[in-house]
Amino acid sequence: MSAVKNYIDQNKDRFIEELISLLKIPSVSADKAYEKDVLLTAEAVKNYLDKAGCKKVEICETPGYPIVYGEHIIDPDLPTILVYGHYDVQPADPIDLWDSPPFEPIIKKTELHPDGAIYARGSCDDKGQMYMHVKAFEIMMNSDSLPCNVKFMIEGEEEIGSPSLEWFVERNQDKLSNDVILISDTGMISNQQPSITTGLRGLSYVEVEVTGPNRDLHSGLYGGAVANPINILNKMIASLHDENNHITIPGFYDKVIDATAEERKEMAKAPFSLEAYEKSIDIGEVYGETGYSTNERNSIRPTLDVNGIWGGYIGEGAKTVIASKAYAKISMRLVPDQDPDEITKLFMDHFEGIAPKAVKVKVTPHHGGHPYVTPIDNIGYQAANKAYTETFGVPAIPQRSGGSIPIVALFEKELKSKTILMGFGLDSDAIHSPNEHFGIFNYLKGIETIPLFYKNYAEMYSGQ
Ligand code: BES
Ligand code: MN
Ligand code: MN
Repeated sequence: MSAVKNYIDQNKDRFIEELISLLKIPSVSADKAYEKDVLLTAEAVKNYLDKAGCKKVEICETPGYPIVYGEHIIDPDLPTILVYGHYDVQPADPIDLWDSPPFEPIIKKTELHPDGAIYARGSCDDKGQMYMHVKAFEIMMNSDSLPCNVKFMIEGEEEIGSPSLEWFVERNQDKLSNDVILISDTGMISNQQPSITTGLRGLSYVEVEVTGPNRDLHSGLYGGAVANPINILNKMIASLHDENNHITIPGFYDKVIDATAEERKEMAKAPFSLEAYEKSIDIGEVYGETGYSTNERNSIRPTLDVNGIWGGYIGEGAKTVIASKAYAKISMRLVPDQDPDEITKLFMDHFEGIAPKAVKVKVTPHHGGHPYVTPIDNIGYQAANKAYTETFGVPAIPQRSGGSIPIVALFEKELKSKTILMGFGLDSDAIHSPNEHFGIFNYLKGIETIPLFYKNYAEMYSGQ
């Protein structure tokens, strides 16, 4: 057994307990009610980094929640890895749908996780995956085998669009300088088939408000003669896709770089069962843009989705009313080279343009982010692939993901470095959903694979 594996074997119970202690703190960045807990979590992460042996650890203030920064420089001639992760989590809502309380972690065995999985908000996204890096660092420190300099940057605002990150990165270019960025905040194909995320979608997120009459009206007295904002909003939203599920906003696809036939052929080789996919989320059939496969639809194609819609009477029983206002939150996932600001502008112009005169429309932009794709012919990718091959016994498959981590494109722009996305979660881990969980196998496999990335990267770097 390798020294790393041996160390994990002897310390795994403590590794799990430490993660559980982090998961107990409800660090929900979106809700001010949890402000104290978010700050407490930053402290806890700082303490764990200290304890793992990181030389310099500090809590850096920002206009929002602080960033935990750690630095362990052993030799300026060695390459430097910047590890990014986030200690904040999504709100637990809808809380009624959890089988156990979201901030009281429990371990349960499932078909996909026969060794058990930790159930708690943030277990996979991203406390569990972030903490793998702290433990991998501890192992390298304790076995005197840290082969690179390392910097940690763990933020507390990822789930609300990282509003302070640009501010922080612009002001700390030297502090954050690195040779490669390493992030575990994505997923892999399965516990038998690792993959490396080579792309992320960008995001444009808007909220729309449709106003009809200046007050709620009796739907009998006024019904039929006045535009109902809820009816109108639904009609407008429905018109945003055509019969092929193509988005109808003029100019929306102008900057999309189509995947080549070769790329699409490569993508189709990844193991995927449509039947298992449909079964796992209990749907009769998949649905999406004509001409594209399921894996293409959720990675290389842009989308437009309503994330929430409300208005009118939603209490018990029936109330006859035409509401004055209707609202929706809409996200557009973007692919290279779509620009989030441009897309937001196109959406606003179009949405305001299609509104009938009978209503007023207001569009408010929320956060956004640029899409990202990374080539695989660099030593970062190769070091990761070799590490996976060593711990899983099979090479990783490069795969573009549908999710967004807006800071990845920002890092490339500001720090000029490439990011390697070594995710260990599964799509079925229910991130952002009730009953989020993270497999013990995945957690420990991550801790085992990360030191090999460091080792391979250092070797490949010096051989360049
Ligand atoms: N870790 C996720 C993103 C992710 C998950 C990417 C799985 C690929 C695979 C991240 O925490 C997240 O939720 N990002 C948000 C965007 C953000 C601006 C709120 C998202 O993708 O919705
Ligand atoms: Mn995340
Ligand atoms: Mn998330």
